[in-house]
Amino acid sequence: MQEPVLWSDDYALNIEQIDEQHRHFFKLIGDLFLAVRSPQWEGEKALAALTHLCDYAYYHFDTEEKFFEKAEYPERVLHRKYHEEFRRQTQLFLSRFRAPTADGKKVLEEAAAFAQRWLTQHILAEDKKYVQCLKERGVV
Ligand SMILES: [Fe+2]
Repeated sequence: MQEPVLWSDDYALNIEQIDEQHRHFFKLIGDLFLAVRSPQWEGEKALAALTHLCDYAYYHFDTEEKFFEKAEYPERVLHRKYHEEFRRQTQLFLSRFRAPTADGKKVLEEAAAFAQRWLTQHILAEDKKYVQCLKERGVV
């Protein structure tokens, strides 16, 4: 079974506002893992953890995308597509969870593993690419 990954300096972009949001994003993924694995399965509580995670993710993407616009970051269109893909996938988990015959615990466990894999890879592979541009253009 997958274990929650903790924040480490490997994920630091050295942009204070973004790093703080990423740390919070990790924490919310940890909260989702905890809710899913709680000995007393409480579907509503676990669903609330996923909903909270999604809301925060969208808020965070918005922060990044505003910086991209200000900096006219050349890869902003592609980067927005990666964010969009996360939104699409998480909405799919939410609708799978709501299906009458769903195994809610399994769906949310998959959602937690997905969110974690997505976030860690996205920071390392994509977010790290915008740091230099945003700094050079003075928006962070
Ligand atoms: Fe991003």
